[in-house]
Amino acid sequence: MENIIELTRGVPPTKSFAVDKLSICAHDALAGYPDKILQYSQSFGFLPLRESLAEIYLANKDQIIIGTGSLQVLDHLLRSFPTGTLRVGFEEPTYDRTITQLKRVQASLLPCPLKLEGVDLSALRKNLEEGKKVDFFYVISDFQNPTGSVMPLEKRHELVALAREHHFYIIEDLPYRNLRYNGQSLPSCYELAPELTCMMSSFSKLIAPGLRVGFMILPKELVHRTAKVAEDTYINPSYLDQALVYEFCCRGWLEEHLVFLKELYSHRRDVMADAMDRHLTGLCDWKRPDGGFFIGSFVKQSVQADVLMQHALKHGLKLTDGRGFYTQGGDQFVRLPFCALEDEQIEIGIARFAETLKTYPG
Ligand SMILES: Cc1ncc(COP(=O)(O)O)c(C=O)c1O
Repeated sequence: MENIIELTRGVPPTKSFAVDKLSICAHDALAGYPDKILQYSQSFGFLPLRESLAEIYLANKDQIIIGTGSLQVLDHLLRSFPTGTLRVGFEEPTYDRTITQLKRVQASLLPCPLKLEGVDLSALRKNLEEGKKVDFFYVISDFQNPTGSVMPLEKRHELVALAREHHFYIIEDLPYRNLRYNGQSLPSCYELAPELTCMMSSFSKLIAPGLRVGFMILPKELVHRTAKVAEDTYINPSYLDQALVYEFCCRGWLEEHLVFLKELYSHRRDVMADAMDRHLTGLCDWKRPDGGFFIGSFVKQSVQADVLMQHALKHGLKLTDGRGFYTQGGDQFVRLPFCALEDEQIEIGIARFAETLKTYPG
């Protein structure tokens, strides 16, 4: 079938890039302080941007590492421990690349099921009560990738209390926190317990992912080992990219841009959620998210991911393999990103998804 609709990638659309403004930022950074951004430098990242982040997040700049995307700082942190020694809990489903990173360092994995009403931490609690050590718990508390869900306040408190009592760290991944379209923001785990939380976030979804600028704020005792892995990996990340972000923020353009992004994405969220109400009621369970890029859908009937994806292609639809977000299973889960598609593509995509499910080979 021609004109396949790709309900797959959670990327910002090209039209969301403020190209003219970024050109001004690049010009001014290169003309203004070439010595600072074109030379080898510290692995921690561009100091003025670290200082700005320190002000925003009420943190010590010496505990902030900016890397080639936030994902790479997470990788540095994980690699700063000997391979095969970490035990890490996380919500399941979760971000597929984090699962890959955890497997690569041969961490032992402790998944906790994430349902529409929030994460169930009983597996974590049971492990801790049995005296099994846990080093980290990874959580995407706001507009989770892949489900779009927000961690309820009581769950945040529960996780923080467990971390305090049993001495593990929370890795809180917040790239979508600033993309809230309605409702009230909840305190992050980082705000509740900064001394226990490695908070990572990113400019990928707020300015442009190609700049590869993301960061982590770490507890004191974890910063230097992480920065050392960064140094041994690439000496320093690109300061030019970080200077562009710095210039963009200094001019107040980020706030302005966020207004534009929220309007763009909240509209697309509504188009997708409305289409789902019309076409998918009775076929899937989902919740209309208050922000972010995704609606996570749980297919009611029993399906096999391979067969579902093949069958969807026959209906002109490309779907992501839900199993990538799980360590086991995941056939019933389909992540539906609304960020990158135009209204008509979203409408057609959801109608085709419904048709795929209705005609799924039994
Ligand atoms: C939850 C989550 N964490 C991290 C990333 C990657 O961020 P960065 O581009 O800063 O590496 C993404 C990108 O999709 C994401 O969804």
